[in-house]
Amino acid sequence: MNQQKGTIVRVEATTVRDFNRIDVRPMTGSIGAEIAGVDLRELDDELVAELRQAWLDHKVLFFRDQDLTHQQHLDYGRALGELEVHPFSDQVEGHPEILVIDSKPDAFISAETWHSDVTFREAPPLGSILLGRIIPPYGGDTCFANMELAYEMLPDATKEEIDGLYAIHSYVKAFGKGMSEEQLAEAQQKYPDQKHPLVRTHPETGNKGLFMARNFMLTIDGMTAEESKELRYRLYEQSKIPELQVRFRWQPNSIAQWDNRCTQHYAIPDHGGQRRRVERVTLIGDRPV
Ligand code: SIN
Repeated sequence: MNQQKGTIVRVEATTVRDFNRIDVRPMTGSIGAEIAGVDLRELDDELVAELRQAWLDHKVLFFRDQDLTHQQHLDYGRALGELEVHPFSDQVEGHPEILVIDSKPDAFISAETWHSDVTFREAPPLGSILLGRIIPPYGGDTCFANMELAYEMLPDATKEEIDGLYAIHSYVKAFGKGMSEEQLAEAQQKYPDQKHPLVRTHPETGNKGLFMARNFMLTIDGMTAEESKELRYRLYEQSKIPELQVRFRWQPNSIAQWDNRCTQHYAIPDHGGQRRRVERVTLIGDRPV
């Protein structure tokens, strides 16, 4: 059991199973493991099954030195599930399933806050596989938070308070800026607001976790604007607890692969305007319950 005294948390030891094909090196007691000894260009059923299990165990997997072509990136994604196409983001030409985040010195992107991906969909993604292409000499790390531990660490009274509550998620805060009235109306029709539970049960592990995305959540269903803001901001504080985080320093050809159902992530915009380009394939998920 994780132990908590006031705001101090003692994270229990993480266990690593025995695998035949992969070397799993946990990065913290609560989230994230680096996977060594793997070439993602050479996949087979046993390797994919072990990676899937390690992914469930550690929530975010990190790989180094994976010099993948676009096709190999897609192949790895497809070995894990079906891929989706992001409706609003830039894509690699000829490969719409590869989303591109290529920094622009003066523009904020929606990943620069704690979030889980594409929660404005009725069925938000299962997970994402992000490949570093151009990495600045400093800054631009990505932080990940274990949202099951974030839930576990809430006071009992808060757990009771949020049990059965739903949040309204929309594309509009992140992608609505700069859209004309017509474009907004069209996007709203294709991607109507979605109601997702604040506490989600992971479909594979059965664990409960907070399901949130600051860039997509608008309000809490059934609350006044003021009540909703107070609760949302209180819950947003959870991902900031260092004991439930891991921080990843990118290199070219590094990969971070996160389970979108039980984690949040935050791309830190501290690279001083230097170029950072990462490319993502995203796995279709199911409706949160
Ligand atoms: C993302 O949210 O998919 C991107 C995260 C990052 O750029 O590190």
